[in-house]
Amino acid sequence: MRTVKKAIIPAAGLGTRFLPATKAMPKEMLPIVDKPTIQYIIEEAVESGIEDIIIVTGKGKRAIEDHFDHNFELEENLIKKEKFEILDKVKQPANVEIHYIRQKEPKGLGHAVWCARKFIGNEPFAVLLGDDIVQSETPALRQLIRQFEETQSSVVGVQQVPDNETHRYGIVDPSTIEGRRYQVNNFVEKPEQGTAPSNLAIMGRYVFTPEIFDFLDKQQIGAGGEIQLTDAIQMLNEIQRVYAYDFEGQRYDVGEKLGFVKTNIEFALQNEEIRDELVKYLVDKVGQITVDA
Ligand code: G1P
Repeated sequence: MRTVKKAIIPAAGLGTRFLPATKAMPKEMLPIVDKPTIQYIIEEAVESGIEDIIIVTGKGKRAIEDHFDHNFELEENLIKKEKFEILDKVKQPANVEIHYIRQKEPKGLGHAVWCARKFIGNEPFAVLLGDDIVQSETPALRQLIRQFEETQSSVVGVQQVPDNETHRYGIVDPSTIEGRRYQVNNFVEKPEQGTAPSNLAIMGRYVFTPEIFDFLDKQQIGAGGEIQLTDAIQMLNEIQRVYAYDFEGQRYDVGEKLGFVKTNIEFALQNEEIRDELVKYLVDKVGQITVDA
């Protein structure tokens, strides 16, 4: 039985939604409380059994490489001061090797994944996008890998979104359903408002057979003038089944400002060190807010 040991994390985007914070810092390094968003994604991959990760970076993304490298000075300093708890937090992630490749031109998500094709070779692999952090009993990617192990087919993670958000996502047009798993007629990238075939949105977790590269090789330009991963998925689905799996878990959208601030509050409320003080602050603050009628 084939399983999945390699993953691609595209991280070459410009992060324009978070300017000026992302002028000199990768958006993947923006913290949720005290941890960069990309570290949550790496942890999910490792907990899902991934052993090799390739991060597709671009201009101005060096901080990501530094973050996942040893920092001897810092580590020695923490050892000297006997700050072992913090030391644990700054160590390199265990049980995984992280590799890097640069996307030389910003040609879209499909192109970013294509850039890692030589690293993947002829194996099934996962893709994780950094704009969604998922909290769940079984990691979201692990749930998809189980589906792959069962079906030996590609599978994309989906969740329901409200009608007024479908235009922001890749949307699936499902045919039959077996439990949480759907067979799919069509995959549509960011349909115009009112035209979405369903409310099942692609949530940045994928498992692919290597045949996806046959379609990414074609470098076809799609929505927004970019090479879209969703278009290659649609083509793959015509020769090999690509399932959609409605994974369990609470998803946090950290790819836009409001979602990012809400996620920080949610995670801060889960953090014992600051929870009580934060609750007091929020209650007090809400008491002072007058809402316009
Ligand atoms: C990408 C994908 C889209 C998916 C989304 C999930 O879009 O192209 O299909 O639904 O991620 O976050 P982006 O948000 O990068 O424009």
